[in-house]
Amino acid sequence: MLGANAAGGAVIGLARTFDTDIGAGDPGYGLLFGTVFCGIAGGMLYGPRLVPDFSRRRLFGLSISAAGVSLVVLALIPNMVIAALVTFVIGAWAGIAWVTGYTLLGLEVADDVRGRTFAFVQTMVRVTLVLVLAVSPLLAAAFGKHEIELTDAMSLTYNGAAITMLLAGVLATALGFASYRHMDDRRGIPLVPDLASAYRNEPVGLRRGDPGGGYFVAIEGGEGAGKSTQVELLAQWLRDQRHDVLVTFEPGATDVGRRLRSVLLDRHDDEPTPLSPRAEALLFAADRAEHVTNVVVPALAAGSIVITDRYIDSSLAYQGSGRALDESEILRLSRWATDGLRPDITVLLDLPAADGLRRVQTPDRLESEPVEFHERVRERYLELARRGGHRYLVVDATRSPDAVAEEIRSRLSPLLPTSRAELAEREAAAAAAEEQARREQQDRERLEQEARAAREQEEATARAARDQAAAEERARRQQAKEAEQARRDAERAARQSAAAEEKERRRLAAEAAAAAAAEQRAKQALEDAERRAAAGRHRAESSDPASRRPADTGRSPAGDDPPTRPLSLTDELFGLGDEADETVQLPRVRDRGEDR
Ligand code: TYD
Repeated sequence: MLGANAAGGAVIGLARTFDTDIGAGDPGYGLLFGTVFCGIAGGMLYGPRLVPDFSRRRLFGLSISAAGVSLVVLALIPNMVIAALVTFVIGAWAGIAWVTGYTLLGLEVADDVRGRTFAFVQTMVRVTLVLVLAVSPLLAAAFGKHEIELTDAMSLTYNGAAITMLLAGVLATALGFASYRHMDDRRGIPLVPDLASAYRNEPVGLRRGDPGGGYFVAIEGGEGAGKSTQVELLAQWLRDQRHDVLVTFEPGATDVGRRLRSVLLDRHDDEPTPLSPRAEALLFAADRAEHVTNVVVPALAAGSIVITDRYIDSSLAYQGSGRALDESEILRLSRWATDGLRPDITVLLDLPAADGLRRVQTPDRLESEPVEFHERVRERYLELARRGGHRYLVVDATRSPDAVAEEIRSRLSPLLPTSRAELAEREAAAAAAEEQARREQQDRERLEQEARAAREQEEATARAARDQAAAEERARRQQAKEAEQARRDAERAARQSAAAEEKERRRLAAEAAAAAAAEQRAKQALEDAERRAAAGRHRAESSDPASRRPADTGRSPAGDDPPTRPLSLTDELFGLGDEADETVQLPRVRDRGEDR
């Protein structure tokens, strides 16, 4: 504990120099100071809770070493950000070491010296802290600054603070390692699997064929505590719940065990030397090895609930305390004998030793021990239960057997595994549910299929109706189109015939006009002809010689030609007709075909 304290003190004492050297100034110092204490608080609060079943003795040495290694890392990496993180880790490990150390002190130091031990530790903690705070800066100054050339371009500068921290870290690591070796109560069990299984909350070395199956209950207690009665009541209750239960006991549950039991418990008053405490411890361990190998483990592997009347704690209480053997050695012996098999729960029936002894009728060798021996046994049992935490149930055995049994039942019922009968029932129920689900699924599928078929049918009908409607629509449109075409044709025909009639009407009008004009012209021609005839007559009447003298004619004296007149259009059209029956040629009327 003092080593862990010194490691934390070194950080605090050197933080000022350290952070000045890496150029972090006052804020850096504040940060380091803060992180180390946050780490300590976090470690104290959560560290042991992470591994509730891990050996506290192991955890203690481990955490001191881990704090030391972290301190070395801090010393080697002079970077403020990393320093802040590593300082937190150092604090956490120191916190774990501190709280574990205190727990161990409380558990392992005998009552009569516990107060003095605590006072001593408290005092030494303060003395160490003051010493470290005073000495570490001096050491740092003495070491001074050192530069390590890595390459031409790169060098590492370590100042006194870093070097002192490095040394403190190495020292703490070594101290932790030494504590671990010295205090280890689980020798032979490798650290990492032990830590991992403690984190997962399962005991190391527990051999079970079916991990989910069996459950191991140990009933412990002093003489006359009523263990046998409670074992039977518990077994009956469990059987009522359809669990497979195996009731067993120590010592003497096997063939070899029976012989060992006789050696251990029968009174051999005639023998001059009593059984030595170590031999007694070894014989109980031997009986336990037989018991675990041949009775307990096979039953657990088969998924039974095993209730044993006495187990390792009996040895710890009777041989460890009653016989004043080293408890850790007895524990190691039993662990080895059982290959680490621990009960899932230990029920401790507690009652004053004197009360228990009064219930014993024919005392055996151990029951014949004085009441102080049994009082020590009781105290050790209670201490084991305190240390074991949630793996123990302490029941006041001075009450009636029924009250005790009721308390045991209520505590155990949430912890027990499911019985095989119940498992089988559940399996059957699950299978039935599966079958039901399968049937329902089939029904659903069938219904879906039917629904799909009906939908398809409906769709087909709808499609057919749509097609028919579309065909009808097309036909209707076609008819409408044809009707429209017919209407247009009729209109066109009507227009054409109207135009032809109009044309005919105009042609007739034109013919009528032409006929009128021809008639007019004919009348004119007639008139002209009449006029010319009149003029001819006139000329004939006036053709006497006097009147035909050349001088009078005004014309060429050489000829007698009639006088000329200008040629009229009528002359051109109808010719110069002196004749009376001139024929007038009328313009020819073109027929309809030619006109078109
Ligand atoms: P037992 O006749 O089984 O009686 P009960 O358990 O009812 O007291 O006695 C077993 C005795 O053996 C008991 O006095 C305690 C002692 N014992 C040990 O000292 N160490 C052990 O490891 C075990 C299992 C029993």
